[in-house]
Amino acid sequence: PRAIWLDCDPGHDDAIAILLALNSPEIKLLGISTVHGNTTPQNAWKNALRLTYAFGTEGEPKPKVYAGATKPLLRTPKVDAEIHGLDGLGGVEGLTDFRDPKVQRLAQETEGKRAVEAIAAAVQETWKNGEGERVTLVTTGPQTNLALFLSVYVDLQPAIEEIVFMGGAVGVGNRGPLAEYNILCDPEASQIVLDYPIPKVMIPINATHQVIFTKEMHYRLLAPDQSLPTPDVLPLKAATPLRHTISTFLLFFADTYRSTFGFNEGPPLHDALTIAYIVHPELFRCKRYRVDVELSGTHALGATVVDVWNYRTCDDTWGYQGKNCLVAEDVNVPGFFDYFLECIERCDKK
Ligand code: BDR
Ligand code: CA
Repeated sequence: PRAIWLDCDPGHDDAIAILLALNSPEIKLLGISTVHGNTTPQNAWKNALRLTYAFGTEGEPKPKVYAGATKPLLRTPKVDAEIHGLDGLGGVEGLTDFRDPKVQRLAQETEGKRAVEAIAAAVQETWKNGEGERVTLVTTGPQTNLALFLSVYVDLQPAIEEIVFMGGAVGVGNRGPLAEYNILCDPEASQIVLDYPIPKVMIPINATHQVIFTKEMHYRLLAPDQSLPTPDVLPLKAATPLRHTISTFLLFFADTYRSTFGFNEGPPLHDALTIAYIVHPELFRCKRYRVDVELSGTHALGATVVDVWNYRTCDDTWGYQGKNCLVAEDVNVPGFFDYFLECIERCDKK
Protein backbone atom coordinates (compact mmCIF):
# COMPACT_ATOMS: atom_id res chain seq x y z
CA PRO A 1 0.00 0.00 0.00
CA ARG A 2 0.98 3.60 -0.63
CA ALA A 3 1.93 5.62 2.46
CA ILE A 4 -0.10 8.82 2.74
CA TRP A 5 -0.70 11.62 5.22
CA LEU A 6 -4.05 13.41 5.11
CA ASP A 7 -4.38 17.05 6.14
CA CYS A 8 -8.01 18.21 6.31
CA ASP A 9 -10.68 20.51 7.77
CA PRO A 10 -13.76 18.29 8.19
CA GLY A 11 -16.15 19.33 6.65
CA HIS A 12 -18.68 17.05 4.90
CA ASP A 13 -16.60 16.18 1.86
CA ASP A 14 -13.42 15.90 4.00
CA ALA A 15 -15.39 13.27 5.94
CA ILE A 16 -15.79 11.26 2.75
CA ALA A 17 -12.06 11.60 2.05
CA ILE A 18 -11.36 10.17 5.53
CA LEU A 19 -13.80 7.32 4.88
CA LEU A 20 -12.09 6.40 1.60
CA ALA A 21 -8.58 6.68 3.05
CA LEU A 22 -9.47 4.39 5.94
CA ASN A 23 -11.17 1.82 3.75
CA SER A 24 -8.88 1.44 0.75
CA PRO A 25 -6.43 -1.47 1.07
CA GLU A 26 -4.21 0.34 -1.46
CA ILE A 27 -3.52 3.03 1.16
CA LYS A 28 -1.54 3.03 4.37
CA LEU A 29 -2.81 6.10 6.22
CA LEU A 30 0.10 7.24 8.40
CA GLY A 31 -1.81 9.97 10.17
CA ILE A 32 -4.26 12.83 9.90
CA SER A 33 -3.76 16.50 10.69
CA THR A 34 -6.35 19.23 10.86
CA VAL A 35 -6.33 22.87 9.96
CA HIS A 36 -8.51 26.01 10.14
CA GLY A 37 -10.92 26.29 7.19
CA ASN A 38 -14.47 25.01 7.07
CA THR A 39 -14.96 25.35 10.83
CA THR A 40 -13.00 26.36 13.91
CA PRO A 41 -9.66 24.55 14.29
CA GLN A 42 -10.94 22.87 17.46
CA ASN A 43 -14.05 21.55 15.70
CA ALA A 44 -11.99 20.31 12.76
CA TRP A 45 -9.82 18.27 15.13
CA LYS A 46 -12.80 16.90 17.06
CA ASN A 47 -14.62 15.99 13.86
CA ALA A 48 -11.57 14.23 12.42
CA LEU A 49 -11.29 12.19 15.63
CA ARG A 50 -14.97 11.23 15.57
CA LEU A 51 -14.77 10.28 11.89
CA THR A 52 -11.59 8.26 12.37
CA TYR A 53 -13.28 6.37 15.18
CA ALA A 54 -16.43 5.78 13.11
CA PHE A 55 -14.75 4.75 9.85
CA GLY A 56 -11.74 2.87 11.25
CA THR A 57 -11.68 -0.79 12.24
CA GLU A 58 -13.03 -1.64 15.70
CA GLY A 59 -10.27 -2.91 17.96
CA GLU A 60 -7.45 -1.95 15.57
CA PRO A 61 -5.11 1.00 16.12
CA LYS A 62 -6.40 4.09 14.32
CA PRO A 63 -4.21 6.65 12.56
CA LYS A 64 -3.55 9.46 15.02
CA VAL A 65 -5.23 12.83 14.50
CA TYR A 66 -3.13 15.95 15.20
CA ALA A 67 -4.39 19.50 15.45
CA GLY A 68 -2.47 21.90 13.24
CA ALA A 69 -2.44 25.56 12.27
CA THR A 70 -5.22 27.59 13.82
CA LYS A 71 -4.82 30.45 11.37
CA PRO A 72 -3.47 31.26 7.92
CA LEU A 73 0.10 32.55 7.47
CA LEU A 74 -0.97 36.16 6.88
CA ARG A 75 -4.72 36.43 6.50
CA THR A 76 -7.58 36.51 8.94
CA PRO A 77 -9.05 33.05 9.56
CA LYS A 78 -12.43 32.20 8.04
CA VAL A 79 -15.08 29.60 8.77
CA ASP A 80 -17.75 28.47 6.32
CA ALA A 81 -20.82 27.77 8.45
CA GLU A 82 -23.08 28.55 5.50
CA ILE A 83 -21.87 25.39 3.76
CA HIS A 84 -20.78 23.06 6.57
CA GLY A 85 -22.88 24.22 9.53
CA LEU A 86 -21.65 25.71 12.79
CA ASP A 87 -19.68 22.66 13.90
CA GLY A 88 -18.39 21.68 10.45
CA LEU A 89 -20.52 18.54 10.20
CA GLY A 90 -24.00 20.04 10.16
CA GLY A 91 -26.86 17.54 9.95
CA VAL A 92 -24.88 14.49 11.03
CA GLU A 93 -26.72 11.82 13.00
CA GLY A 94 -25.36 8.70 14.66
CA LEU A 95 -21.71 9.77 14.78
CA THR A 96 -20.13 8.94 18.15
CA ASP A 97 -19.83 12.08 20.26
CA PHE A 98 -16.50 13.69 21.03
CA ARG A 99 -17.18 13.19 24.75
CA ASP A 100 -17.59 9.44 24.35
CA PRO A 101 -14.76 7.68 26.25
CA LYS A 102 -13.66 5.82 23.10
CA VAL A 103 -13.17 9.05 21.16
CA GLN A 104 -11.65 10.67 24.23
CA ARG A 105 -9.05 7.93 24.32
CA LEU A 106 -8.03 8.80 20.76
CA ALA A 107 -8.01 12.51 21.59
CA GLN A 108 -5.69 11.98 24.56
CA GLU A 109 -3.09 10.35 22.32
CA THR A 110 -2.37 13.62 20.53
CA GLU A 111 -3.64 16.38 22.80
CA GLY A 112 -1.11 19.23 22.89
CA LYS A 113 1.06 17.70 20.14
CA ARG A 114 1.84 19.61 16.97
CA ALA A 115 0.75 18.53 13.51
CA VAL A 116 3.80 19.77 11.64
CA GLU A 117 6.15 17.83 13.93
CA ALA A 118 3.96 14.75 13.65
CA ILE A 119 4.05 14.89 9.85
CA ALA A 120 7.84 15.18 9.94
CA ALA A 121 8.16 12.25 12.34
CA ALA A 122 5.91 10.04 10.20
CA VAL A 123 7.78 10.96 7.01
CA GLN A 124 11.16 10.31 8.66
CA GLU A 125 10.02 6.97 10.00
CA THR A 126 8.68 5.86 6.63
CA TRP A 127 11.52 7.23 4.48
CA LYS A 128 14.28 5.86 6.74
CA ASN A 129 16.90 8.10 5.13
CA GLY A 130 16.26 6.65 1.71
CA GLU A 131 16.06 3.00 2.76
CA GLY A 132 12.28 3.08 3.15
CA GLU A 133 9.37 4.51 1.15
CA ARG A 134 8.33 7.97 0.08
CA VAL A 135 5.16 9.53 1.45
CA THR A 136 2.31 11.18 -0.47
CA LEU A 137 0.88 14.26 1.21
CA VAL A 138 -2.79 15.01 0.67
CA THR A 139 -4.51 18.26 1.56
CA THR A 140 -8.25 18.83 1.48
CA GLY A 141 -8.28 22.18 3.27
CA PRO A 142 -6.16 25.35 3.36
CA GLN A 143 -2.49 24.45 2.92
CA THR A 144 -1.02 26.15 5.99
CA ASN A 145 0.27 22.96 7.65
CA LEU A 146 1.83 21.75 4.42
CA ALA A 147 3.56 25.10 3.74
CA LEU A 148 4.95 25.10 7.28
CA PHE A 149 6.10 21.49 7.05
CA LEU A 150 7.85 22.03 3.69
CA SER A 151 9.50 25.24 4.88
CA VAL A 152 10.75 23.88 8.18
CA TYR A 153 11.74 20.35 7.13
CA VAL A 154 13.46 21.21 3.86
CA ASP A 155 15.70 18.14 4.25
CA LEU A 156 12.66 15.87 4.00
CA GLN A 157 11.65 17.01 0.53
CA PRO A 158 13.25 13.98 -1.19
CA ALA A 159 11.03 11.83 1.02
CA ILE A 160 7.84 13.22 -0.52
CA GLU A 161 6.49 11.21 -3.42
CA GLU A 162 3.72 13.57 -4.47
CA ILE A 163 1.40 16.26 -3.15
CA VAL A 164 -2.25 15.78 -4.08
CA PHE A 165 -4.55 18.63 -3.17
CA MET A 166 -8.14 19.63 -3.61
CA GLY A 167 -8.27 23.32 -4.31
CA GLY A 168 -8.23 26.00 -6.91
CA ALA A 169 -10.25 26.74 -9.99
CA VAL A 170 -9.48 27.24 -13.65
CA GLY A 171 -11.56 30.35 -14.18
CA VAL A 172 -14.65 30.78 -12.02
CA GLY A 173 -14.24 30.33 -8.23
CA ASN A 174 -16.67 29.37 -5.47
CA ARG A 175 -15.84 31.74 -2.59
CA GLY A 176 -14.68 34.68 -4.67
CA PRO A 177 -15.33 35.52 -8.31
CA LEU A 178 -12.19 33.60 -9.26
CA ALA A 179 -11.11 32.05 -5.95
CA GLU A 180 -11.81 28.61 -4.57
CA TYR A 181 -12.26 28.36 -0.79
CA ASN A 182 -9.22 26.28 0.25
CA ILE A 183 -6.78 28.52 -1.62
CA LEU A 184 -8.60 31.71 -0.63
CA CYS A 185 -8.26 30.86 3.07
CA ASP A 186 -4.46 30.86 2.87
CA PRO A 187 -3.23 31.98 -0.55
CA GLU A 188 0.38 32.53 0.57
CA ALA A 189 0.58 28.98 1.92
CA SER A 190 -0.58 27.59 -1.42
CA GLN A 191 1.97 29.64 -3.34
CA ILE A 192 4.68 28.29 -1.04
CA VAL A 193 3.52 24.74 -1.76
CA LEU A 194 3.35 25.37 -5.52
CA ASP A 195 6.92 26.69 -5.49
CA TYR A 196 8.47 23.47 -4.13
CA PRO A 197 10.00 21.08 -6.68
CA ILE A 198 7.86 18.13 -5.65
CA PRO A 199 5.37 16.47 -8.04
CA LYS A 200 1.93 17.98 -7.47
CA VAL A 201 -1.60 17.20 -8.53
CA MET A 202 -4.26 19.86 -8.20
CA ILE A 203 -7.90 18.82 -8.20
CA PRO A 204 -9.81 22.04 -8.87
CA ILE A 205 -13.54 22.67 -8.69
CA ASN A 206 -13.74 22.26 -12.48
CA ALA A 207 -13.11 18.55 -11.82
CA THR A 208 -14.95 18.18 -8.52
CA HIS A 209 -18.13 19.80 -9.85
CA GLN A 210 -18.41 16.82 -12.20
CA VAL A 211 -18.80 14.47 -9.23
CA ILE A 212 -22.28 15.25 -7.96
CA PHE A 213 -23.89 13.17 -5.25
CA THR A 214 -27.26 12.84 -7.00
CA LYS A 215 -30.49 11.38 -5.62
CA GLU A 216 -29.81 8.22 -7.53
CA MET A 217 -26.46 7.89 -5.77
CA HIS A 218 -28.19 8.58 -2.49
CA TYR A 219 -30.47 5.59 -3.11
CA ARG A 220 -27.51 3.39 -3.90
CA LEU A 221 -25.93 4.52 -0.63
CA LEU A 222 -29.01 3.94 1.50
CA ALA A 223 -30.29 0.69 0.06
CA PRO A 224 -27.63 -1.06 -1.99
CA ASP A 225 -29.69 -4.20 -2.54
CA GLN A 226 -32.97 -2.60 -3.57
CA SER A 227 -34.16 -1.43 -6.92
CA LEU A 228 -34.54 2.33 -7.12
CA PRO A 229 -37.78 3.70 -5.72
CA THR A 230 -39.37 6.80 -7.24
CA PRO A 231 -37.02 9.74 -6.78
CA ASP A 232 -39.20 11.84 -4.48
CA VAL A 233 -39.23 9.69 -1.38
CA LEU A 234 -35.83 10.54 0.11
CA PRO A 235 -34.90 9.97 2.87
CA LEU A 236 -35.42 6.26 2.57
CA LYS A 237 -34.51 4.08 5.54
CA ALA A 238 -30.81 3.24 5.45
CA ALA A 239 -29.68 -0.38 5.29
CA THR A 240 -27.08 0.12 8.05
CA PRO A 241 -26.23 2.73 10.75
CA LEU A 242 -23.09 3.73 8.81
CA ARG A 243 -25.15 4.45 5.70
CA HIS A 244 -27.62 6.41 7.80
CA THR A 245 -24.83 8.61 9.19
CA ILE A 246 -23.33 9.32 5.77
CA SER A 247 -26.76 10.01 4.33
CA THR A 248 -27.64 12.53 7.05
CA PHE A 249 -24.60 14.68 6.56
CA LEU A 250 -24.76 14.48 2.76
CA LEU A 251 -28.42 15.57 2.87
CA PHE A 252 -27.35 18.66 4.84
CA PHE A 253 -24.53 19.29 2.34
CA ALA A 254 -27.03 18.94 -0.51
CA ASP A 255 -29.27 21.55 1.14
CA THR A 256 -26.52 24.11 1.64
CA TYR A 257 -25.25 23.61 -1.91
CA ARG A 258 -28.79 24.12 -3.18
CA SER A 259 -29.43 27.26 -1.14
CA THR A 260 -25.97 28.83 -1.61
CA PHE A 261 -25.04 27.87 -5.16
CA GLY A 262 -28.30 26.63 -6.69
CA PHE A 263 -26.93 23.11 -7.17
CA ASN A 264 -30.27 21.30 -7.55
CA GLU A 265 -28.89 17.91 -8.58
CA GLY A 266 -26.78 17.42 -5.46
CA PRO A 267 -23.51 18.54 -3.84
CA PRO A 268 -20.04 17.92 -5.32
CA LEU A 269 -17.88 15.52 -3.31
CA HIS A 270 -14.76 17.70 -3.79
CA ASP A 271 -12.25 16.32 -1.25
CA ALA A 272 -13.04 12.67 -1.86
CA LEU A 273 -11.38 12.98 -5.26
CA THR A 274 -7.90 13.33 -3.75
CA ILE A 275 -8.04 9.83 -2.32
CA ALA A 276 -9.75 8.48 -5.44
CA TYR A 277 -6.89 9.92 -7.50
CA ILE A 278 -4.31 8.07 -5.40
CA VAL A 279 -6.12 4.74 -5.60
CA HIS A 280 -7.47 5.07 -9.15
CA PRO A 281 -5.44 7.61 -11.16
CA GLU A 282 -6.86 6.03 -14.32
CA LEU A 283 -10.20 7.67 -13.51
CA PHE A 284 -8.68 11.12 -14.09
CA ARG A 285 -7.52 13.01 -17.15
CA CYS A 286 -4.89 15.54 -16.12
CA LYS A 287 -2.73 18.07 -17.91
CA ARG A 288 0.43 19.83 -16.78
CA TYR A 289 0.35 23.61 -16.34
CA ARG A 290 2.07 26.45 -14.57
CA VAL A 291 -0.11 27.36 -11.60
CA ASP A 292 0.37 30.35 -9.30
CA VAL A 293 -1.84 32.09 -6.78
CA GLU A 294 -2.98 35.69 -7.08
CA LEU A 295 -1.69 37.38 -3.92
CA SER A 296 -2.00 41.09 -4.58
CA GLY A 297 -5.74 41.01 -4.21
CA THR A 298 -7.11 43.96 -6.14
CA HIS A 299 -9.92 41.85 -7.58
CA ALA A 300 -8.95 38.24 -7.37
CA LEU A 301 -7.17 37.36 -4.14
CA GLY A 302 -6.68 33.59 -3.90
CA ALA A 303 -7.39 32.85 -7.55
CA THR A 304 -5.27 30.05 -9.00
CA VAL A 305 -3.75 31.45 -12.17
CA VAL A 306 -3.54 28.44 -14.47
CA ASP A 307 -1.48 29.22 -17.55
CA VAL A 308 -3.55 27.24 -20.04
CA TRP A 309 -2.00 28.92 -23.11
CA ASN A 310 1.62 28.91 -21.87
CA TYR A 311 1.98 32.67 -21.74
CA ARG A 312 4.46 32.62 -18.92
CA THR A 313 8.12 32.06 -19.44
CA CYS A 314 9.03 30.04 -16.42
CA ASP A 315 12.18 29.07 -14.65
CA ASP A 316 13.05 25.60 -15.93
CA THR A 317 15.46 24.70 -13.10
CA TRP A 318 13.10 22.02 -11.86
CA GLY A 319 12.09 20.73 -15.30
CA TYR A 320 8.79 20.60 -17.14
CA GLN A 321 9.52 24.17 -18.39
CA GLY A 322 8.35 25.48 -15.05
CA LYS A 323 4.94 23.82 -15.33
CA ASN A 324 4.66 23.01 -11.68
CA CYS A 325 1.44 21.08 -11.43
CA LEU A 326 -0.72 18.38 -12.98
CA VAL A 327 -4.27 19.69 -13.06
CA ALA A 328 -7.22 17.29 -13.09
CA GLU A 329 -9.56 18.20 -15.93
CA ASP A 330 -11.97 15.28 -16.25
CA VAL A 331 -13.17 12.53 -13.97
CA ASN A 332 -14.77 9.19 -14.81
CA VAL A 333 -17.81 9.76 -12.60
CA PRO A 334 -19.39 6.26 -12.63
CA GLY A 335 -15.93 4.84 -11.92
CA PHE A 336 -15.56 7.16 -8.94
CA PHE A 337 -18.94 6.16 -7.49
CA ASP A 338 -18.22 2.45 -7.88
CA TYR A 339 -15.07 2.98 -5.82
CA PHE A 340 -16.96 5.11 -3.26
CA LEU A 341 -19.60 2.39 -2.78
CA GLU A 342 -16.95 -0.32 -2.52
CA CYS A 343 -15.33 1.59 0.35
CA ILE A 344 -18.66 1.95 2.12
CA GLU A 345 -19.31 -1.75 1.74
CA ARG A 346 -15.89 -2.53 3.21
CA CYS A 347 -16.49 -0.17 6.10
CA ASP A 348 -19.92 -1.70 6.71
CA LYS A 349 -18.43 -5.19 7.01
CA LYS A 350 -15.92 -4.21 9.68
C1 BDR B 1 -13.42 22.97 -0.61
O1 BDR B 1 -13.87 23.90 0.38
C2 BDR B 1 -14.56 23.23 1.42
O2 BDR B 1 -15.86 23.72 1.51
C3 BDR B 1 -14.60 21.77 1.06
O3 BDR B 1 -14.38 20.96 2.20
C4 BDR B 1 -13.55 21.59 0.00
O4 BDR B 1 -12.31 21.24 0.58
C5 BDR B 1 -14.22 23.16 -1.88
O5 BDR B 1 -14.03 24.44 -2.39
CA1 CA C 1 -12.13 20.53 2.89
